[in-house]
Parts: sequence; structure tokens; C-alpha cells
Amino acid sequence: MTRDILLEINRDRLRANFNKYTRKAFQMLPTLKKPRILDIGCGSGVPTLELARLSKGEVIGIDIDQTQLKKFNIKIKEADLAHRVKTMKCSLKNMKFPHESFDIIWAEGTTWIIGFQKGLKEWRRFIKPNGFLVVHDEMSDIDKKIELIFICGYKLIGTFVVPADAWWTEYYRPLEERIHELREKYRNNSKILDVLDKEQREVEEYKNNPKYHGSVFFVMQKIQRLYK
Ligand SMILES: C[S@@+](CC[C@H](N)C(=O)[O-])C[C@H]1O[C@@H](n2cnc3c(N)ncnc32)[C@H](O)[C@@H]1O
Repeated sequence: MTRDILLEINRDRLRANFNKYTRKAFQMLPTLKKPRILDIGCGSGVPTLELARLSKGEVIGIDIDQTQLKKFNIKIKEADLAHRVKTMKCSLKNMKFPHESFDIIWAEGTTWIIGFQKGLKEWRRFIKPNGFLVVHDEMSDIDKKIELIFICGYKLIGTFVVPADAWWTEYYRPLEERIHELREKYRNNSKILDVLDKEQREVEEYKNNPKYHGSVFFVMQKIQRLYK
């Protein structure tokens, strides 16, 4: 039942409002012919599918949440992209890909899981020489992160901010509206109302601290290190 109501809320529809930022970041990269891309922590694959459409390449999405991957696999079939988009249940902390096997590594909303510096360091080995890493991260310590980018063996191609406003108008406000609609529809169903309460709590968290919810893209290129 929880799953059904979450499907009815349909956060993917709201997440898709941010595909324009995924496109903006992708367009900051030089043109690559059919790149091999790894999307780290792909969830239900909203940005992953956008990357497949943009790149015309092969995309692998990894995540530890089997429910999200199941949902994503259905979407891959529906989009007729099974020949180019694959999923894998695997932790971003313990990836076993051959070294230098991806042209681009993409990570939206996932560096906090491992830590910015550790993620940049550990994922670097899987990127081909002069390949790319794109990270969409929370909006904190930007100057420090820019320093770390160089320390970890990348050059910064560019960076841009997704303002907190966008998170409100394109994500949390429509999410709240949807929660209200569903609360009305299921007003006699206490189990569903509990799930909706939990969803609303996330909206309240945003409202209490909207600045925290701005986010930032870093578009990086792996460079040769002069030192180990
Ligand atoms: C904020 S969501 C981002 C999803 C997607 N990248 C997006 O931008 O829509 C974080 C994702 O990281 C996944 N995740 C959490 N811990 C993980 C781990 N150790 N390894 C791989 N994925 C993980 C979660 O299951 C979730 O799908």
C-alpha cells in the first residue's frame, strides 16, 4: 500500500523538472561519440534516462535500493532503451568495475553518502584518462570543494547553482500540493495518511531551512597527476 501511494505521489514527475540542469551540465562537456557513462546512485533513473537520451551512449546505473532499480528497469523497457541502459545493484562505496572503463561518471545527490573528497578520490580510477566526472551536490563549502577537486586529480570545467527557489517552485511546492490532494482523497485511510504525514515532514524540513536546499553542479575533467 505504501508503494502504491508513493507511486501516486509520483516524485519522478517532479524530479524530471530538474532534467534541464542535468542537460545544462552535460552540455558543458565536449562532444563525445557514444560515451560509456556510469550513474552512481541512480535511484529510479530520472537523470539516468536523460543522460541516455542526451549522449546516445551506454549508461549503467548503480544503486543499493532494489525497489528503485525495479522501478527503473520497467521505465527502461517502456522507453525501449534496454540495449543502452543497464542497472546494477551495487554500493557506491565498493564498486568493482575495471579501471578506466567510463568516459563519464555522473553522481547526482549521492556524494554525501561517501563524502565529497572520498568519492572524488575513489571514483577517479574508473574514469578513462581525460574523462569526466559530474557531481550534483548540496550547497555547502563550495570553495573548499573546488580546492578538493584539484587535490583529488581533476580540473574544474565549470560549476553552477540550482537555486533554492527552483527546489521550492519545481519540487517541494508541487509535492505539497499533491500531498494535499491525496490527503483529501484518502481522508478515511489512516495508513495512507501516515505515509502522507511522513512526506509532508520533508516539505516542512525544506520550509524550515530553504537555503540548505539549493544545490550545485561541478563539472570536472580527470587530469594526469604529477604526484601519487
Ligand atoms: C538523493 S537519491 C538520488 C537519486 C538520483 N541520482 C537522482 O538524482 O534522482 C540518492 C540515491 O542514492 C542511493 N544510495 C544510498 N546509499 C547508496 C550506496 N551505498 N550505494 C549506492 N547507492 C546508494 C539511494 O538508494 C538513492 O537512490
